[in-house]
Amino acid sequence: MLKTLNTSAVTAALHHKDFRIITAAETGSTNDDAKALAAAGAPQYTVIQAEYQTKGKGRLGRSFYSPRSTGLYFSIILRPDALPIEDTLFITTAAAAAVAEGVESVCGKACGIKWVNDLFLGGRKICGILTEAAFRPDLSGLNYAVLGIGINIAPPSEGFPKELETIANTIYDCPEEVPDGLRERLLAAILDGFHAYYTQFPQKAFLESYRSRSILTGKEVTVHRGDQQYPARVVGIDDRCRLLVEQDGRKTTLDSGEVSIRF
Ligand code: BTN
Repeated sequence: MLKTLNTSAVTAALHHKDFRIITAAETGSTNDDAKALAAAGAPQYTVIQAEYQTKGKGRLGRSFYSPRSTGLYFSIILRPDALPIEDTLFITTAAAAAVAEGVESVCGKACGIKWVNDLFLGGRKICGILTEAAFRPDLSGLNYAVLGIGINIAPPSEGFPKELETIANTIYDCPEEVPDGLRERLLAAILDGFHAYYTQFPQKAFLESYRSRSILTGKEVTVHRGDQQYPARVVGIDDRCRLLVEQDGRKTTLDSGEVSIRF
């Protein structure tokens, strides 16, 4: 088990002092907590972190395994005033770039990004990102968004459940390998890195970082779209963070909402 997160150490390491961190020993889902706080008026950059989630949520209605004190689970409340609804995906992709950079700089490990929201190390997933948004009634933009990030830092003492054994990985091989203060420095680096990208969304400064870490580019994949599935080759990621694939010499773009990819 890792030591409980020290919020003062996170705040001390943070460059952007706008973040306010709320911690919990245990919760259902930090995304659900953040949504409740946002709906009650909590300001942008409120961060909810928990040592353990009993109902951690993943994309597409899946669950996110969040064992006690071996991961970093947190959600950030965002109130992106001028962000058009169709650009909501950039929150997730900018966060993926910020997490990859944070893991590289703080843990010294290079990780790849599997479009659209997963981070991989050694061929298995170490981090998932779930952005949930509440739109204004007139759909003129976002009322708020909650950016949830879950990172597997070290293996749980009882190991991963069987169904995750070949899919999930951790940044460190055991809790004893995790340097003191690592989670605090990593959280601060991710928040600072994300803040820098988020405050300059029109420039899409995260795109180059995101693309350069894409593990799907150049790979043969199976595209699952509704009832259909077909083989394709990934040729890149466009400026809207859609996946560019080629099938029988024909290029198409895939939207994250409508496909899943196996490779
Ligand atoms: C995925 O892999 O599909 C996304 C996983 C996102 C998990 C994080 S952990 C913190 C936050 N709270 C949640 O319930 N989910 C996100």
